Amino acid sequence: NNLNYFKRFYKWPVRISDIRKSGDAGIDSNKIHKVKGWVRNIRIQKNVSFIEVNDGSSVQGLQIVGDKDTFSNIKHGSAVEAEGNLMKGEGKNPQVEMQLKNIKLIGDCPNEFPLQPKHHTFEFLREIAHLRSRGNTAGALFRMRNESTQLIHQYFNKNGFINVHTPIITASDCEGGGEQFQVVSTLDNKSNKQPHFFGEPAYLTVSGQLEAEIFASSHSRVYTFGPTFRAEKSNTPRHLSEFWMIEPEIAFIDLNDNLDIAEDFLKYVINNLLINCKDDIEFFNKRIDTGLIERLKKTVDNKFIRLEYKDAINLLKESKEITQNSIEMGDDLQREHEKYITQHFGNVPVFIINWPKSIKPFYMRQDDSNPNVVSNMDLLVPEVGELIGGSIREERYDILLKNIQDLGMDQKTYEWYLDLRKYGSVPHGGFGLGFERFLQYVTGLQNIRDVIPIPRYQNYCKF
Ligand code: 4AD
Repeated sequence: NNLNYFKRFYKWPVRISDIRKSGDAGIDSNKIHKVKGWVRNIRIQKNVSFIEVNDGSSVQGLQIVGDKDTFSNIKHGSAVEAEGNLMKGEGKNPQVEMQLKNIKLIGDCPNEFPLQPKHHTFEFLREIAHLRSRGNTAGALFRMRNESTQLIHQYFNKNGFINVHTPIITASDCEGGGEQFQVVSTLDNKSNKQPHFFGEPAYLTVSGQLEAEIFASSHSRVYTFGPTFRAEKSNTPRHLSEFWMIEPEIAFIDLNDNLDIAEDFLKYVINNLLINCKDDIEFFNKRIDTGLIERLKKTVDNKFIRLEYKDAINLLKESKEITQNSIEMGDDLQREHEKYITQHFGNVPVFIINWPKSIKPFYMRQDDSNPNVVSNMDLLVPEVGELIGGSIREERYDILLKNIQDLGMDQKTYEWYLDLRKYGSVPHGGFGLGFERFLQYVTGLQNIRDVIPIPRYQNYCKF
């Protein structure tokens, strides 16, 4: 049963989530169990007192029942080890509780533990990012973040993809946005002899895509899942300076295949999250966003809309809700446009495909019938907006070279990238899913700073 591993690793305390699961299956009340965790709640009554201990494994901790004075030295926020018998709890929640035999204080806590069992604002919690994961919301979030990571690897593994670790330090600017962080050695500042540690300017990567294309050109189906960095001065609830991106790159595909893969992938991860993280999602649905579960089920159950960019612009121009003249053919979409489009289609995800070449990066494949359009896709989802950006890559040497030259990019830096088009070039493509935006989508959390362990954004690099 779920408690079996405790026998193998007998020095480990049992996880409280496993105790809760075993509670559903029937409890052996003769056995003594040991748990370790942090005290979330203390209630002292006339003849009896209770503490709730949480070890981060589930939304609900374990309620521990002791005599009236048992917990007089125990404070909220402290770490304890408790031993006792498990018994069926009163009422619906908790289903299982511990009748205390023995309690040890592992780490004491002053009376003024910053995280009190009451509502705190997200702004306040961000100030104590080193403690916030002991609260319910961040507690649930980091379990969901972990499960999402596992499911993402699982999806690709099941479908024959190879995971590639692309470099974090790079000489190229994948998105051509010029919004990179430069990497300099602290020694560079002291000596003029070698102005660049790497012999040339180096940056933190904005995307692993260009390097992933190397491996798609040898292993056919690959993906990266790593940190990416952007020096965008976008102080919004959807932008971070450091975020994680999942980037599959696949040989021998066209745009329709790319759309199919992105849709299948998202549905797989969300569907399994609904099963594997049922309690955490119910928590978010209750506390953060009461439309969450319905929206996620809708996402899994419906075909995503596929809309040409030009049709999207016409739709926006015809709409009375969109500010007059706020958008023209050739423009990028703003937040209000994204919102209108997903709402218009009944709050299911919408792919916008085939955008103007002039507003997209150099690597996107020029359309065969219209040289002003590229073969690409952005996925818009309700509440969050743009979740995925992807494309078919330009696999023709001459057109790619011309793009690089027309944009005034340094040809030497991209020689290796051009080489991939010289030696056995094939049609290929892929996409990038912003992991934190995905987590906003599956939790309903409004601010991207609340879905990453330690956020980095302009004017903030605490820890
Ligand atoms: O659309 P983007 O810029 O696409 C790329 O980087 C491609 N190279 C991906 C590929 O085709 N392999 O970014 C992809 C996604 C966005 O849709 C968004 O979800 C997320 O990355 N993203 C950010 N997330 C948080 N903070 C930021 N500053 C982000 N910028 C992009």
